[in-house]
Amino acid sequence: MIPPTNQRPGATVLFIFGGSGDLNLRKLTPALYNLFIDNYLPEQFAVVGLGRSQYTDDSFRERLEEGVQSFSRRKDGPWDTFSPLITYLQMDAGDAGAYTKLSDFVADKEKQWGQRPSVIFYLAVAPQLVPGIAENLGKLQLCGDTSRVRIVVEKPFGHDLKTALELNALLGGLFAEEQIYRIDHYLGKETVQNILALRFANSLFEPIWNRQYVEHVQITAAETVGLEGRGGYYEGSGALRDMIQNHLLQVLCMVATEAPASFDANEVRNKTVSVLNSIRRIKPEQVNEVAVRGQYGPGTVKGKEAAGYREEEGVDPNSATETFAAVKLYVDNWRWENVPFYLRTGKFLPEKTTIITIQFKAAPDFAFPDEATKTWQSNRLSISIQPAMDIRLRFQAKRPGQTLALDPVDMVFSYKTAYEQEPEAYETLLLDVMTGDATLFMRADQVEAAWKVVTPIIEAWGSEEPNFPNYDPNSWGPQAAMDLIGRDGFEWIK
Ligand code: BG6
Repeated sequence: MIPPTNQRPGATVLFIFGGSGDLNLRKLTPALYNLFIDNYLPEQFAVVGLGRSQYTDDSFRERLEEGVQSFSRRKDGPWDTFSPLITYLQMDAGDAGAYTKLSDFVADKEKQWGQRPSVIFYLAVAPQLVPGIAENLGKLQLCGDTSRVRIVVEKPFGHDLKTALELNALLGGLFAEEQIYRIDHYLGKETVQNILALRFANSLFEPIWNRQYVEHVQITAAETVGLEGRGGYYEGSGALRDMIQNHLLQVLCMVATEAPASFDANEVRNKTVSVLNSIRRIKPEQVNEVAVRGQYGPGTVKGKEAAGYREEEGVDPNSATETFAAVKLYVDNWRWENVPFYLRTGKFLPEKTTIITIQFKAAPDFAFPDEATKTWQSNRLSISIQPAMDIRLRFQAKRPGQTLALDPVDMVFSYKTAYEQEPEAYETLLLDVMTGDATLFMRADQVEAAWKVVTPIIEAWGSEEPNFPNYDPNSWGPQAAMDLIGRDGFEWIK
């Protein structure tokens, strides 16, 4: 979380493996550029892109400038002052001998700056490259400095519980846990962090934030996009692993957690891991009742013909990978006993929206005449993570007039009207890595606990052939997803 401006991080060298890749172009450099504009970057700072492609410093900077022009929230500004902080180092990450270049670079900077910098290794690379790079880095003497050297790993953290345990064991053998920053970019989103502020900085919500008042909770992350050329990755992942195991379970943790005693990284993470550990284990025979998977077929998206998932590049023509998943979970603790949490996500859905809905129990309506109760609705708090970025409290109001009629109305707080611009998730997360604040990063036990939640679903789905494709692009997924929530007498809120 962002420190006041007088606490800029100390001297830092940031190495980005996969420097010429998409993540750096779209997210990391735009985030660094915005941190620079806002004066959050260290006064002594160097960022080094690493990759096999051939670039000079100048041609690399030019490429990143294009990224800023396309993807940064601010495009104009002091690029010419910022760009000299960037250098490019051509290097094959598989070549163990090449890693001394990194120590040499740090040693040069130390001489130049007159102080030992913090060093961050950001692994913006395909997951299969992570173990090799981590092993080579682990051999550098420099990495023994646990207070100054950090390694940042992007998701996916493993493919299942077993591989996650293996990856954690490997990283844990090379680095101290406090050096490992596992990114879940959802936690960097302002609106996700604001859930804790809403709940614990106000006295209004907390007393009703429990099984006595809450009927159910919904978390939807709907995307209008399809694969966007990521068939190779997605085919081995699917919606459950790509979105639910990490992003949506973390959002659930924010909604369900107990109040931390402080915002100390371990205290917050202890509380969220406790939520994950409280999620009721799904028995194999229950999977079909509580989990739904879908895959889009061919259809029309934004007025154009779109290929079905199985026709996408890099995808098996008989693929069983789901592009839609919905699950129903229970958090078995005193606060949430028997309150269902419904989570769903999918590609090629009609709307881009990530939204949490807290549906409260109905108020008794017996005192009101029949006509007044026709439009009766329970109270509902909707927290829109994106793109709307607002919070809406729905309640009943008397419609003006001589009869007693009611309408549901919304009280709205919108980030976009209240504030000018908010930082992107990667700005917050990169700054946190530089300042050494791990609150918004996954600890090894969190990742493992999240895998345990989805493991029964993965196993059941792996042992049964799905009936795919089963939804049209531009629809809200398979009918079974409506039935999942419909069986409990609720519906997905749009
Ligand atoms: C990524 C997934 O982690 O999150 C993508 O791999 C998904 O498939 C993306 O599109 C969604 O992120 P956001 O921030 O656009 O909601």
